Amino acid sequence: MGLLRCRRNVVIGLVVLLIYWVNAQWTVPPAAVPSGSAGVGSAGFLGAAACVSCHKAICDSHAVTAHFLSSSVASSVSIKGSFRGSRSRVVFNDRLEVLMEKRGGKFLQTAMFNGALYESEAFDVVIGSGRKGQSYLYWDSVRLFQLPISYYTPLDSWCNSPGYPTNLVYFGKQVPGQCMECHATGAKLMELGDGAVGFDRGSIVYGIDCERCHGDGAEHVKWHMAHVGEKGGHAILNAARLGRQQRLDGCALCHSGFRRQVMPSFSFKVGDTLDKFSTAVYDTGSVAGLDVHGNQYGLLTGSKCFRGSAQMDCSSCHDVHRDEAGKVGVFSQRCMSCHGAPGSVVGGARLAGCSFGPVKERGLVGNCVDCHMPALPSQKILLQFSGAAKPVHDLVRTHRIGIYPEISAAYLKSRK
Ligand code: HEC
Ligand code: HEC
Ligand code: HEC
Ligand code: HEC
Ligand code: HEC
Ligand code: HEC
Ligand code: HEC
Repeated sequence: MGLLRCRRNVVIGLVVLLIYWVNAQWTVPPAAVPSGSAGVGSAGFLGAAACVSCHKAICDSHAVTAHFLSSSVASSVSIKGSFRGSRSRVVFNDRLEVLMEKRGGKFLQTAMFNGALYESEAFDVVIGSGRKGQSYLYWDSVRLFQLPISYYTPLDSWCNSPGYPTNLVYFGKQVPGQCMECHATGAKLMELGDGAVGFDRGSIVYGIDCERCHGDGAEHVKWHMAHVGEKGGHAILNAARLGRQQRLDGCALCHSGFRRQVMPSFSFKVGDTLDKFSTAVYDTGSVAGLDVHGNQYGLLTGSKCFRGSAQMDCSSCHDVHRDEAGKVGVFSQRCMSCHGAPGSVVGGARLAGCSFGPVKERGLVGNCVDCHMPALPSQKILLQFSGAAKPVHDLVRTHRIGIYPEISAAYLKSRK
């Protein structure tokens, strides 16, 4: 595999530049958020620990999902990169390098210029489960800033943070509210006057926990503690009971790419209409210009599957309480709940199965997705190796479900 080959080529001094789509976030002035956001936020979440006594199976499986692990306080467990030997250094050039250090119980990124200390800041907060990579933040009073070095999982290597220059280290990028809005459960924000926001440190609930999608659970827990044995759920939100657009909006908040904010971060709650809180920055009528990365909502809603069925939403294929990454067989069963097996005239929801000759003949039911939802190169996540002419594109599963004849032919060939 290409990336593994790269790994062998990684030598000290190699600088990797990641350009995530999230870069776009930084370029929009936070001043677009109306004032009055002071104190908006969401302290007082109970956390999954308050749910486990009655929903043990869900809590256990959710604890290992990318959602739950999407942000955390930095620790030797949550930071994926190495602090040992040469692997703990990122060399920019012969005068400039950054050392990843463990000192006095702290994890630090220390920039050295001409052998002298330039700046050293702590890994305080981890953003990203490490499924693909991680970025790190440090506290300066109530403000959060991004550290210059990130971690890229496929190479198991430190690298220059997404979109950062390769010839200087920069500690001055302040983190906006949206970063936490998409990667955490709750945080109290403070308006700092210059359009920037601060965070009430103690109020941050890291990871995407139950109450991010189900709302504040206090009333629910109290009621069920007092009514043990009651079968129906009381005083809690279940998206399954909402209309389709509201169900989709609950995921689109974070899975429709960067949005232009109309209301402050964390004001949207599942059940609300997302367009009243933020608006899409792409043409919602066309999927042509969408990147495969980060906009599953836009791509899915442009697919025939979605437009032809009144009920389809993200939960048609995803059980968000489980880590199902890579389980193509499980996903294919979900396709067949509507389509039926290849060659069948009528499927689960009265739709025909696959009409492709070789699929029918060979009864290929275990993998519908590599042909119809192929992993495609992202235009926004690029790995730039110093010295290499062309950047490497990250592969992301497209949510534009469709017919891809060349990819289908290649898939058949790979299975010979
Ligand atoms: C004292 C027991 C108890 C605790 C604690 C508890 N629940 Fe429940 N919950 C129930 C029962 C009983 C039901 C109804 C049966 C079911 O759907 O599992 C329920 C149902 C639900 C439902 C589905 C509601 C519906 O309308 O379909 C959700 C969502 C939910 N709980 C979330 C949570 C969350 C989040 C927490 C923690 C903040 C939590 N529960 C804590 C007992 C509890
Ligand atoms: C608060 C923001 C937020 C909401 C709401 C949200 N997600 Fe996510 N989701 C994320 C982030 C961030 C990641 C990447 C996590 C990581 O790896 O650090 C992610 C990752 C995922 C993944 C990839 C998991 C994997 O292991 O490959 C799936 C699938 C997913 N989300 C589906 C959903 C669905 C379905 C919904 C709605 C029911 C939803 N998400 C709601 C932010 C969110
Ligand atoms: C609009 C919501 C949104 C915002 C804002 C956002 N992210 Fe993300 N981020 C996501 C989603 C969704 C994914 C998973 C995307 C996918 O797999 O297509 C992700 C993935 C990541 C990953 C890779 C995690 C992994 O291992 O899979 C990192 C690292 C990351 N984001 C860092 C950041 C940082 C740092 C910020 C703020 C400066 C930020 N993101 C802002 C939604 C967001
Ligand atoms: C990313 C959003 C998200 C997170 C995080 C999340 N849920 Fe859910 N949950 C949903 C959605 C969406 C549904 C409805 C699924 C459907 O349409 O059938 C649901 C349904 C439920 C139900 C109803 C029964 C069922 O199994 O469908 C319960 C109970 C529940 N969730 C509990 C929890 C608990 C407890 C946690 C935390 C450990 C949690 N959820 C975390 C989105 C989420
Ligand atoms: C909720 C039901 C539902 C699910 C689940 C579903 N589909 Fe569909 N799909 C449809 C409908 C409805 C159509 C449109 C049929 C029509 O217009 O004749 C469709 C159309 C298609 C088409 C034709 C697309 C084109 O451009 O001509 C393909 C291919 C397809 N689906 C594959 C899949 C795959 C693969 C999965 C699983 C990853 C899947 N579908 C899951 C309902 C579904
Ligand atoms: C028709 C089935 C289907 C529907 C509907 C669907 N997904 Fe997916 N999704 C998949 C499959 C298949 C994968 C690839 C899983 C894998 O290989 O690990 C995937 C992967 C993902 C990933 C990880 C992408 C990556 O490559 O890193 C995210 C994030 C995600 N889905 C979010 C969503 C959201 C949000 C929605 C609703 C807007 C949604 N999905 C609707 C089938 C679906
Ligand atoms: C080897 C790649 C491959 C696999 C595997 C595959 N398909 Fe297809 N599928 C295709 C191609 C190519 C077409 C277009 C065939 C044509 O032009 O007649 C197609 C057509 C379809 C259609 C459109 C049917 C119509 O009448 O318009 C549906 C629906 C579909 N596939 C669903 C599935 C499902 C569900 C699975 C898994 C059980 C699956 N496919 C597995 C390649 C594949």
